[in-house]
Amino acid sequence: MTRPAGTLPLDQLLQHEGFGTRRTCRAMVWSDRVTVAGVLAENPDVRVLAEGTPYAVDGVEWVSRERVYLAMHKPLGHEVSRKPQHHASVFALLPPELDARGVQPVGRLDADSTGLLIFSDDGNFIHHLGSPRHAVTKTYVATLAEPGTSAFVHALRTGVQLRDERVPVAAASAELLAADTLRIVLTEGKYHQVRRMVAAAGNHVLTLHRPAIGSLAIDERLPEGSWRYLEAGEVAELGG
Ligand code: URA
Repeated sequence: MTRPAGTLPLDQLLQHEGFGTRRTCRAMVWSDRVTVAGVLAENPDVRVLAEGTPYAVDGVEWVSRERVYLAMHKPLGHEVSRKPQHHASVFALLPPELDARGVQPVGRLDADSTGLLIFSDDGNFIHHLGSPRHAVTKTYVATLAEPGTSAFVHALRTGVQLRDERVPVAAASAELLAADTLRIVLTEGKYHQVRRMVAAAGNHVLTLHRPAIGSLAIDERLPEGSWRYLEAGEVAELGG
């Protein structure tokens, strides 16, 4: 049998795309549940392109992707965990097929934080965005319990001592957008870092939102609680 480059059998493609075991996927084809480019698929061994094949399962349309790159606008009250303790999981906001592909988030947001989350099943991409060595910026906007002072902003910029850290931790940038609104940019993602840094500088975070990671900002295409695929150009700009 010839094996054109970039192709794989339909049952393997469906498995890779999160539809279950190879056996389940073969059975789906045999039960007339799968179309490829609008045509009913009858043979689970037919070779299809791993990237860019339009197909449908039970009438729901997909396009095959070797790797997925997603952006989500995380709402309040969701945990960035597959085993949430007290709230719903952000993974419940994704189609089960994408969850089944084992997508991982770039860093986390607390249950009571909102904002941009990026997910992928490309381990190198996740590592690149999360690693302090690559210094990809994470931008946060926090509302503060007390009006911020110039000493407070100066402390965040020059470094504050966090418990369990050997050396003071500094923001890449920090500025007040209003008396009680802080914009802070970090290039690392320590546990509860913004809340702990603000506390160490003598204030308290009331609300916390992450509007951007690197070059990618939340916009009107990403309402709270929704997700979308990243475009190839966005992935490339983020360093993928
Ligand atoms: N820093 C925090 O304290 N919380 C977050 O959710 C993200 C960064």
